[in-house]
Amino acid sequence: MCAKIETQDNKAITYEGLLEGNKAWVADTLKEDPEFFNKLSAGQAPPVLWIGCSDSRVPANQITNTMPGDIFVHRNIANVVTHTDMNLLSVLDYSVNVLKVKHIIVCGHYGCGGVNAALGDKQVGLIDNWLRNIKDVYRIHEREMSTIKDPVRKSERLVELNAIEGAANVMSTSIVQNAWAAGQELSVHAWVYSLKTGLITDMKVSASNSEDLSPVFKMQA
Ligand code: CO
Repeated sequence: MCAKIETQDNKAITYEGLLEGNKAWVADTLKEDPEFFNKLSAGQAPPVLWIGCSDSRVPANQITNTMPGDIFVHRNIANVVTHTDMNLLSVLDYSVNVLKVKHIIVCGHYGCGGVNAALGDKQVGLIDNWLRNIKDVYRIHEREMSTIKDPVRKSERLVELNAIEGAANVMSTSIVQNAWAAGQELSVHAWVYSLKTGLITDMKVSASNSEDLSPVFKMQA
């Protein structure tokens, strides 16, 4: 039995269709490069760690025109970065200390359902506790947020601030600070993707050393 899933344009995606799609992709890929899988299976050395939203419309490779092997990916609902998330910390530790990525990108997206839910007051379920982290972003920036009256702009600004605070949280981890202290080449960035245009905006808060960190977050090795 196959479960039919309706996509937004009502094209039915079937379970079998996914496997057929895989075969077609392999055939197309081998036509382009017969050695593609041989080369990729030898190992990975991605220069980028992507921390993005689980939203099906924001796939890291496609929107950056990159290939398998190029980006190490962690996604969760609303690209939340917290210091108690063992999943995220494990991904971060492995990508910084083993893969030696050069860039870490926290990428939010306008129209994020998680951010919109955090802006509201309706209970959704377990996820409310996860999205509480975004309410903290609102609280940190309450003065600015309270001046924005337009609900769309309010949502967009919280998306931007959530990506910026996520990047700041990455920067203040012991993992990133120790890499910087050891002289490792590593930059952390915040981006926001637009579902409407497909374009990414750099929030321009990038850091490649601990000098930009607030003193309260600076740690001695
Ligand atoms: Co989202």
